[in-house]
Amino acid sequence: MTSVDVHADKILILDYGSQYTQLIARRVREIGIYCELLPWDSPLAERFECSGIILSGGPESVTASGSPILPEFVLKAGVPVLGICYGMQLLAHHFGSQVEPGEQGEFGHAVVQRLTEDPLLEGVAADTQVWMSHGDHVATLSDSLVTLAKSDDVAQAVIRHRELPIWGIQFHPEVTHSVEGDTILRNFLVGQCGCQQLWQTQSIAESLIESIKETVGQDKVLLGLSGGVDSSVVAALLHQAIGDQLVCVFVDNGLLRLNEADQVMATFKEHMGVNVVHVAAEETFLSRLAGVSDPERKRKIIGETFVEVFEQEADRLEGVKWLAQGTIYPDVIESAGAASGKAKVIKSHHNVGGLPEKMSLKLLEPLKELFKDEVRKLGVGIGLPEVLIYRHPFPGPGLGVRILGEVKKEYADILRQADAIFTDALREFELYDAVSQAFVVFLPVKSVGVTGDSRRYEYVVSVRAVETVDFMTARAADLPFSFLQTVANRIMNQVAQVARVTYDISSKPPSTIEWE
Ligand code: XMP
Repeated sequence: MTSVDVHADKILILDYGSQYTQLIARRVREIGIYCELLPWDSPLAERFECSGIILSGGPESVTASGSPILPEFVLKAGVPVLGICYGMQLLAHHFGSQVEPGEQGEFGHAVVQRLTEDPLLEGVAADTQVWMSHGDHVATLSDSLVTLAKSDDVAQAVIRHRELPIWGIQFHPEVTHSVEGDTILRNFLVGQCGCQQLWQTQSIAESLIESIKETVGQDKVLLGLSGGVDSSVVAALLHQAIGDQLVCVFVDNGLLRLNEADQVMATFKEHMGVNVVHVAAEETFLSRLAGVSDPERKRKIIGETFVEVFEQEADRLEGVKWLAQGTIYPDVIESAGAASGKAKVIKSHHNVGGLPEKMSLKLLEPLKELFKDEVRKLGVGIGLPEVLIYRHPFPGPGLGVRILGEVKKEYADILRQADAIFTDALREFELYDAVSQAFVVFLPVKSVGVTGDSRRYEYVVSVRAVETVDFMTARAADLPFSFLQTVANRIMNQVAQVARVTYDISSKPPSTIEWE
């Protein structure tokens, strides 16, 4: 059976630097259409065959010299074009309209009023709530364009070309605050670009499995299993595609959460019958980390040791030709950003997937076209347990960056217990899914406490829980105070080496999610 061609209809999104660009791509995918996101000046964009083009928003002014432009191929491609915010201003400017800076910009909720019927706005209420976020606006429109909708603050909220399939929207349909944004995007993608909604979990799974089979043939594939969502989904997918040709290596570095190694082994080896080689490497990792307290140095040591241990195992296995990795689409987008030198390194996030190329294995990255939410849906679709799929993210260096300063086994053991108490309580009180990430941090300082009639002089831990959408910004979760008190009491009563528990209320920025 050949699977559906999930890439048959494609949309190109040109990125002009808006904070919402990835969101546009995710909305298009949710509607069921494959899309790719490329920088507006990428040489790959012109060669990308597509059924429609979306121009994103961006922070610049189209009238300023040196600001990003509308590449010539966009209007020559002969496909419908939708400009959003900066993208709309670019189109308007190109057709001779006047784009001007607003007095103070417009940010937040607004109501947009339809002035004329148009297929782009079909099914949208005459007055609709939208999300605005712009400095400039289109002040006067050239003759080739027509206004479809306005808001109190902008005369041109939606525009279109009189003859060509070209539209511009000043607000952000990709943001959920634009309540009918989805309808507008669907009208553009399905109604105007003629895309079929082929990008569906079941078809994606079938198409990935088929393409893995084709690519790998009879070869053996090696995968570093971390227990995280991405590598777990890769494991399940590869297992379905090539069965016993897949060998997973799970490295226990001594920096995992309580019972994590057992859970991963149970899920994959016992329940799914996947070949998993368990490497007990706690001593190697902890001895390398002895005496090291600088966070970046610790990250580096953990990353390098992982690669070394992994390579040793790989050498032992015969006939392996492929190395599978859990690279996902945002990693691909970010590495393009990093390669262009635009991104600043705050923390060198080592991902256990970051393995050396000198291993002379060919690279297999089956998830590299998928966003995280798509990976999760795929995981559930191919039968992985939801508890595993919807687990909070866990950093590659594990507890290594949650033990401040030098890492010791004694500290890791204390932290593991405290962390498990917090996580169990979150599940018990049904708060686990209400926060994006939650964990405990170990502070290597001692504080005085009292138990019964005795004085205690023991360690301090901090409980951290955050709410975030993208992990780039975050705020401390507003957990009920009584819940926090319960957690603190449980930790201090059950973990003898902890005399004090604090709750971290810092936002990111200026703080970060992890303490190191
Ligand atoms: P920060 O601390 O930078 O964390 O606000 C943002 C997200 O990234 C995770 N994180 C890491 N992930 N390797 C990883 O794979 C790392 O070194 C690392 N440091 C932070 C963190 O858990 C949060 O989800």
